[in-house]
Amino acid sequence: MMHTKFKAALLTVALLTSSSAAMAEENFWQWLVTFTRQKEVKPVDNKTYADECGSCHYAYPPGLLPGKSWAKLLDEKALNDHFGENASLDKATLKAIYDYAMENAAEKSWYKRSRKIAVATEDETPLRITDVRYIKRKHHDIPEKMIKGNKDVKSLSYCNACHTQADKGIFDSDTVSIPNYPDWD
Ligand code: HEC
Ligand code: HEC
Repeated sequence: MMHTKFKAALLTVALLTSSSAAMAEENFWQWLVTFTRQKEVKPVDNKTYADECGSCHYAYPPGLLPGKSWAKLLDEKALNDHFGENASLDKATLKAIYDYAMENAAEKSWYKRSRKIAVATEDETPLRITDVRYIKRKHHDIPEKMIKGNKDVKSLSYCNACHTQADKGIFDSDTVSIPNYPDWD
């Protein structure tokens, strides 16, 4: 199994065209080191990002959107009207958050779900994770009453309402529990 994954990784490296070869190699070795964790999404490991972007909702790991989406979202003007809220930041904080998101965006990550998100967004620039085709497809069977009509969820945007290990970047269906609907899977 490891052998197959290793070959798949080499192939991916060979196919990588967006970043320089040196960068790809560095990312590759980093990926090999974190081999056992590469199935899901890299959890947030930046305190500024976690604090500033985790105060109104779950701090979304940058590997859930491509860099081109983060560039649009993490813009000074855009943050003044961030989904109807003022989420503006001072210049230095914004730069730190922007750089962190860009470095860890879906297309830069070796984590499996990030790879899928990168592929699903090749031809589009969604401003929402919940608008990414791959993410939509994973949730389209869940009845609205369990999301919008559920006082403990309210919106699909609140990933951690149902994904009990979202803070570790784990979204596997085995770790899901929809509030008030314990028997649904
Ligand atoms: C002042 C509150 C507030 C802050 C601070 C904030 N957000 Fe948001 N964010 C929102 C609201 C409200 C929504 C829309 C939620 C909904 O539609 O239910 C949202 C939605 C999002 C979405 C889309 C989620 C989806 O539906 O897929 C992303 C991505 C996002 N925020 C990223 C960030 C990042 C990155 C930061 C840090 C720079 C941040 N947010 C800080 C309030 C905030
Ligand atoms: C209302 C509860 C709920 C919310 C909120 C929610 N999810 Fe899910 N999610 C589910 C359920 C249930 C499944 C399992 C679907 C299945 O296996 O049929 C799932 C599946 C997934 C999967 C695929 C897991 C797998 O094993 O293949 C991913 C990835 C995912 N969700 C990401 C997210 C992200 C990111 C957010 C926030 C933007 C989110 N989810 C918000 C309930 C939710």
